[in-house]
Amino acid sequence: MTSSVTSHSKMLNAALVVDNVTKKYASGTEALKGVSLTVPQGDFYALLGPNGAGKTSLIGIVTGLVNKTSGTVSVFGHDIDRETEAAKSMIGLVGQEVNFNPFEKPIDIVVNQGGYYGVPRSIAIPRAEKLLSDLGLFEKKNSKAMELSGGMKRRLMIARALIHEPKFLILDEPTAGVDVELRRSMWEYLTTLTQGGLTILLTTHYLEEAEKLAKNVAIINKGSIVAQGTMDEVLSLYKGGADDKYATGKLESVFLELTKK
Ligand SMILES: Nc1ncnc2c1ncn2[C@@H]1O[C@H](COP(=O)(O)OP(=O)(O)OP(=O)(O)O)[C@@H](O)[C@H]1O
Ligand SMILES: [Mg+2]
Repeated sequence: MTSSVTSHSKMLNAALVVDNVTKKYASGTEALKGVSLTVPQGDFYALLGPNGAGKTSLIGIVTGLVNKTSGTVSVFGHDIDRETEAAKSMIGLVGQEVNFNPFEKPIDIVVNQGGYYGVPRSIAIPRAEKLLSDLGLFEKKNSKAMELSGGMKRRLMIARALIHEPKFLILDEPTAGVDVELRRSMWEYLTTLTQGGLTILLTTHYLEEAEKLAKNVAIINKGSIVAQGTMDEVLSLYKGGADDKYATGKLESVFLELTKK
């Protein structure tokens, strides 16, 4: 009884509840084999796993881009199958692949995205300018997007994802291809956003940064969660890695131990 009460209140307070989700692609690949996880409101949550583990598939399901095979997902209590629009409106997505029109200007890319969510231009324009300025792109707002560097494109994706003021920001490898200094300022920016109440779920292969910044973490391997909990709980699985001369942190050792082939 107690446990069902606890899990119910946990669900009411959660930004995201994924319950026993499976995904089998038409090709036959079983990308997710019964994944369950809960992202508390206001969390900075890291979803970690090697290439091909199922991270992008899971994000695709949560954001409505990929159909799940079975299981349930709810976003701030809205079931993604029954209350699709309500769930979607709460999410901002920074996808793994850069996917804006290279001939458009950053300011238009961000403002037009607001249009899809019903944000009037009179509100979207100043909001987009503020976002572009916070992300160091203000001078580039009227350039063609194709003229931005790789790191600038990633930051433009973040500005675009925030234009409708989502409560939940999902980022699939936002720091891939971003230099050290910019990566640090991006983590800093994301941390500031969570302090303002935004919930963040991200994937990254930079484990030493995730170790410092994420509150909760899940490690996924071959479609199954192999560890999850607070960062301290997951780090407590560390059994010493003296023989690993490349390890840059405890999380990396735990990750390798749990995901080795
Ligand atoms: N559209 C698709 N059709 C068929 N199989 C797919 C499709 N998308 C992904 N897969 C397969 O599903 C599995 C999980 O892929 P996914 O992209 O979710 O992994 P990932 O954890 O995001 O990896 P990475 O770190 O490389 O981005 C892989 O075996 C992949 O080949
Ligand atoms: Mg991926």
